[in-house]
Amino acid sequence: MGESGSLIEVVLDLPDGRSCPVLVGDGASASLAELIPARAQRVAIVTQANIGVEVDPGREHRVFTIGDGEQFKTMSTVEALCSQFAEWGLTRTDCVVGLGGGLVTDVAGFAASVFHRGLPVVHVATSLLAQIDAAIGGKTGVNLPEGKNLVGAFWQPAGVLCDTALLETLPPREWRCGLGELAKYHWLGGGRLDELPLDERVARCVQIKAEVVASDERESGRRALLNYGHTLAHALEIAGDHDLRHGEAVAIGLVFAARLARAMGRIDDEAVAEHRRVVAGYDLPLEPPPGLDPEELLALMGRDKKVLDAGLTFVLDGPDGLEVVAGVDPVLVRSTLEETS
Ligand code: GLY
Repeated sequence: MGESGSLIEVVLDLPDGRSCPVLVGDGASASLAELIPARAQRVAIVTQANIGVEVDPGREHRVFTIGDGEQFKTMSTVEALCSQFAEWGLTRTDCVVGLGGGLVTDVAGFAASVFHRGLPVVHVATSLLAQIDAAIGGKTGVNLPEGKNLVGAFWQPAGVLCDTALLETLPPREWRCGLGELAKYHWLGGGRLDELPLDERVARCVQIKAEVVASDERESGRRALLNYGHTLAHALEIAGDHDLRHGEAVAIGLVFAARLARAMGRIDDEAVAEHRRVVAGYDLPLEPPPGLDPEELLALMGRDKKVLDAGLTFVLDGPDGLEVVAGVDPVLVRSTLEETS
């Protein structure tokens, strides 16, 4: 972690000499032109109408607007973008910019990964969630009717800008969503992030994520730890008739994972209490909304896997910190769910 003017610079070092600089701080988006590869003559800026942020990539550019909401995170949005890029004459040596939250950076990154078989992308992350998670690490993708993020690519950005001034106008609910992911970093080595000034807090999360991604870019092992709290969270997001957003579901998933780890004898009551304290400290929900069917949640959690048929898989705390634990007993998961729902 270093300094670049008044900004904090974190560099994500990747195999084969690749790297991704991430600039964090008030006004970081003004550095966009510096991160666009020099040979790019045109820049396609992908954003949403409600983002309301203008950036200057320092060369010819056009703005392409996608819809707001998960229903627009689809192959047809990517296809429409690629058609518009083609109509404009964007080439493989040009550049895409994703200007927005996690949905925009996921979609813009995926379009960049497939158009002309791949052209550079730079992200200007405008939400807390995108700055500390979604825009960092090169995961891109869209949803299918069969599930979230089922189609995508690992496509590392040429750089990421986390302009913390943009967070000042973030709607409160969006801010809370980011806090769910922020809480997760407490158990990934982040410690008392709430005590840090905003720029340092964002940069610390970026640094932790960069270290994890550098060690396991394509999630063959350690990167899965970044999914702490996400097994139940993904099920909660699909199940029932409620209004939980991703970060809120992650917060509930963190406390649930702690209770499950306690039930498995991996951690003690104090560690569970610490999970509750940290999540409550961010004013996030601790328990699933009432009335959800544990059987449905179990079935959804069983589907939430990317690798092999390893049964129910959770990231769980334990004596040596977080670990991916496969084959967790569904009876125990169900009884832990019933205690909390
Ligand atoms: N959001 C988890 C990851 O990027 O691996």
